[in-house]
Amino acid sequence: MTNPLITVAIRGGTVVNSNWSRPADVLISGNQIAAVVEPGRRGEDRATDFTEIDATGRLVLPGGVDPHCHVGFTSGEYTTRDDYYEATRAAVAGGTTTIVDFAIPRPGEQPLAVAERQREKASDGMCDSALHACVVEWDGTTQGQLEELAHSGIVTVKMFTTYRDETMASPTAILNTMKVLRPLGGLVYVHCESNHLVEDRQEELARSGELSSAHHHQSRSELAELASVSEILALADHAKSPVYFVHQSSAAAVELAIEARKRGVRAFSESVTHHLLIDDSKYSEPNAELYVCCPPLRAKSTVDALTRHLFTGGITTVGSDHCCYDSAQKKSSKDDVRTMPNGLPGVETRLPLLFSHFVIEQQLPIERFVELTSTNPARLNGIYPRKGAILPGSDADISIWSREGSHVLTNTVLHMSTDYTPFEGSIVRGTLEMVLVKGQPAVHQGEFLHPTARGVHVPGEAMSPDPLLGSRGRKP
Ligand code: URP
Ligand code: ZN
Ligand code: ZN
Repeated sequence: MTNPLITVAIRGGTVVNSNWSRPADVLISGNQIAAVVEPGRRGEDRATDFTEIDATGRLVLPGGVDPHCHVGFTSGEYTTRDDYYEATRAAVAGGTTTIVDFAIPRPGEQPLAVAERQREKASDGMCDSALHACVVEWDGTTQGQLEELAHSGIVTVKMFTTYRDETMASPTAILNTMKVLRPLGGLVYVHCESNHLVEDRQEELARSGELSSAHHHQSRSELAELASVSEILALADHAKSPVYFVHQSSAAAVELAIEARKRGVRAFSESVTHHLLIDDSKYSEPNAELYVCCPPLRAKSTVDALTRHLFTGGITTVGSDHCCYDSAQKKSSKDDVRTMPNGLPGVETRLPLLFSHFVIEQQLPIERFVELTSTNPARLNGIYPRKGAILPGSDADISIWSREGSHVLTNTVLHMSTDYTPFEGSIVRGTLEMVLVKGQPAVHQGEFLHPTARGVHVPGEAMSPDPLLGSRGRKP
């Protein structure tokens, strides 16, 4: 057998996976990683367009996998401002090389048709993408649609316990979806906020004239989130189904999942960048509407308790929950949180902010950073080890980081299709030096080298009953 022709060699860096890191060189052949070898070993068969990248003193990480990213997302009257090209370009600029978007039906639409339509857009992307389907209403066709989706590589299904008349699903629909997905190796992703508690509080606030963005955090309480998480855990327990909680905003919500895991429920906790880094004091400041997201930002003490679960293992993944509304959209309904567009832009800032705040400032182990932001998201979407790892055969999606350098974050240097970032003025320590997308250097020191669309939809494979377990039955 002939050796693969090596197109790119990344030499001199420390290669980091979720379960090991060591000095090594990465040899790439075309789109894929060919080998991870002892540093300095030469003698590979080189392609004519061979490139050598010096990563001395740098960290060589798998590109980020963002498990929670809304692209061109319509909710109520509003549609987010980006398309696949723009969202993935911003993702790559921030070190993320795979996004997982949602195919969310509008009223009257069916999950399969929406997913098929959304999947077509992957080829507009600068990097690859995967998709979560979404079930809102259960009818006689839903089981067949879920089976067809799973066979075509969409094994994750998002469901909401809130947003009446938009995406809210009944507990029966969630239970049915869990039961159908379990034998298919699928996973239900749930947005948990108990809608009756949210609506009741909103009615109270309406009576006292307190529905503006400044009151958003009061309108969607932590209690409403906890009540919903408890109910969904009971459904998962009953159905013997795994369950993934999106954007858990408080330590108490994560702890419900931890307790359930001790009882044998396979529960996974996602947190998102804004819940880990900013708190509800933003609602007392001017432009509170720019921070309206669901669940809302929480009290500083809650944020501090939540971040501890990054270090102790309670949190499974960190996504962005990217929603690229601009400030005009946010302002247009700022006096009524019931109708305003919720969600924050963040696909580009997720990794640099987490690297800065947690890896550099608080010594989060770099392997855990990779686990949270790349490997576990890939595992829980059935796309590992193609994504989320630096291993022979994995796609050559790579981000190269330095612990040196710092800059002040400002929206003018970002690429997301909006006019603000919720993190304006934050100090970002460390430097994202280079991003490779499927073997091609795409970004160097913030400049695009190849801003070309070359994305594909990455099909998710059926997952094992515990997708975080390695193929040999142990946590790798
Ligand atoms: O506020 C948020 N998170 N908006 C986006 C939709 C969702 O709930 O994920
Ligand atoms: Zn949500
Ligand atoms: Zn979301």
